[in-house]
Amino acid sequence: MIKIAPSILAADPLNLERDVRRAEEAGCDWLHIDVMDAHFVPNLAYSPKVVRRLKEATSLPLDVHLMMDHPETLAECFLDAGADILTIHAEADTDPLKLTEMIHRAGAKAGIALKPGTPAEAVLPLLGQAELILAMTVEPGFGGQKLDESVVDKIRQLRDTGWQGWIEADGGIKEDNIARLFDAGLDVAVMGTALFREKDMRPAVERMHQMIRKSEA
Ligand code: DX5
Ligand code: ZN
Repeated sequence: MIKIAPSILAADPLNLERDVRRAEEAGCDWLHIDVMDAHFVPNLAYSPKVVRRLKEATSLPLDVHLMMDHPETLAECFLDAGADILTIHAEADTDPLKLTEMIHRAGAKAGIALKPGTPAEAVLPLLGQAELILAMTVEPGFGGQKLDESVVDKIRQLRDTGWQGWIEADGGIKEDNIARLFDAGLDVAVMGTALFREKDMRPAVERMHQMIRKSEA
């Protein structure tokens, strides 16, 4: 069963708790929290304090996505704030092994993210240190973009390695492409716009699962 992780970048920042409740009531599995440093990506998003308050407010696992050039500067703060999964980018200017060790010491799961243009080969040496690989399906930095179809092959390539961790995709995922991603081996679908634009999120989540069941039939 695929996991649905709503990206709160698409939530209403003035009504974040209300939107988290909508995600819970819709049967979502994780909460995806984008962190942006206005350097690795030309945008700014969410602080450790927001993660801490979300940890107090929901029992949904917090899937924190660090779009930062130097994730080591704040990784400890996000782990301390309650990140259950902490994902760093393979393209970041940091030592991924040191960071994954820190993440594991804190009892969290380690994720490695790849931009659409970064080949799967970039992450193969790290598969033994990560529980999650995030294959970005858009250029990181903004919600509401169109899914980059070339990443479907990267997901299949990652799955075909036989690695047993979670493969997550993030960006531009909608009803009309989620089944293709699932068929390629996806475990976790991060969705912002496709979910938060809905008045009632539950039917949208149900439709996503229906599209997958249809593709399995
Ligand atoms: C983009 C973020 C994504 C984005 C997904 O850099 O990592 O999580 O918010 O949003 P949608 O689903 O609207 O593309
Ligand atoms: Zn993200």
